[in-house]
Amino acid sequence: MDSFRGKLAVVTGGGSGMGRELVRQLAAQGCSVAACDLNVQAVAETAAMARAGEPDGVQVTSHACDVSDEAQVLRFRDELLDGHAGDHVDLVFSNAGIGGGGSFISGRREEWERTFAVDWWGVYYCARAFLPLLIASGDGVLVNTSSVNGFWASLGPGMPNTAYSTAKFAVKGFSEALIEDLRVNAPHVRVAVVMPGHVGTDIVVNTRRALGLPGPERLSDAELEAARTALIRRGAPAEGASTDELRQMLVQLANDFRDKAPLSAAEAATVILDGVRSGAWRILVGEDAKSLDALVREKPDAAYDYAELGRMAAEDSGNTT
Ligand SMILES: NC(=O)c1ccc[n+]([C@@H]2O[C@H](COP(=O)([O-])OP(=O)(O)OC[C@H]3O[C@@H](n4cnc5c(N)ncnc54)[C@H](O)[C@@H]3O)[C@@H](O)[C@H]2O)c1
Repeated sequence: MDSFRGKLAVVTGGGSGMGRELVRQLAAQGCSVAACDLNVQAVAETAAMARAGEPDGVQVTSHACDVSDEAQVLRFRDELLDGHAGDHVDLVFSNAGIGGGGSFISGRREEWERTFAVDWWGVYYCARAFLPLLIASGDGVLVNTSSVNGFWASLGPGMPNTAYSTAKFAVKGFSEALIEDLRVNAPHVRVAVVMPGHVGTDIVVNTRRALGLPGPERLSDAELEAARTALIRRGAPAEGASTDELRQMLVQLANDFRDKAPLSAAEAATVILDGVRSGAWRILVGEDAKSLDALVREKPDAAYDYAELGRMAAEDSGNTT
């Protein structure tokens, strides 16, 4: 696929972050887009932004859909076929995702299962719904977003990340397994798996909203104490902090995740689209993702030995400077 001009793309999670930027960049490159999100207002805003810069003949529609609910995914599919008067789609970006479900041992089971449902079943239901439509295209590509947590199941010391990592490993495994299945059964369709490192988005805030958790300003005293323990484990100076200071630290963490990332959402979307156009099946997004991938492959036994991993990374960066 040399160009996206004249194609129809589906983007899930188009209301924010990388999904929003994918919609905008695809439309700007002459591709019609049907975008969905849990947050219907946010995805409508994305569609309005994309329409403002779209070339003639490009149509951008926005739809409400919770990808973890198969009936909603099927309704989204039917709506977009109606809206775009089509019988196939050319590209599907299964991008919607949330964090959460950190500890299997001490976390809430409902949160674990909700995170897993969005990040795994969402990708699965979209593949079920849209693969027949990609097969009906002469030149279809399924693009599933995993993460560096799809090959490295941790966020670092003191930060368990079990539901998210389990789902993202599943997305990576499923996408890789589809490579041969497609070669055998639908050789004109491709699959790519996207593995971003740290990308500056509002995923921290959006995750809390999607899980029905209160923002820092509405946390109870008990929740703030749990947050204090988690902050201390991450090395933040939260021991003697007042409740107001704790709330402020939590707001700052979410802002820093977005504002101090090595890559912006727009830059990440460009990397993803370049990767899809080039025919790559594995798309690592960001130098941090590339370096982690290399380290884990070089010495798999050291993957969770953070001191050793840090030493290897320092050596590597010493060799390249
Ligand atoms: N930001 C990062 O550093 C990073 C790193 C690795 C992987 N990822 C993955 O990239 C993808 C995009 O993340 P982002 O950082 O742009 O996040 P984001 O929060 O900015 O955007 C994700 C969008 O998905 C939507 N969404 C959440 N649950 C949904 C559901 N059930 N149905 C439909 N839409 C839903 C959210 O409302 C939001 O608009 C996710 O799959 C995420 O796991 C992100």
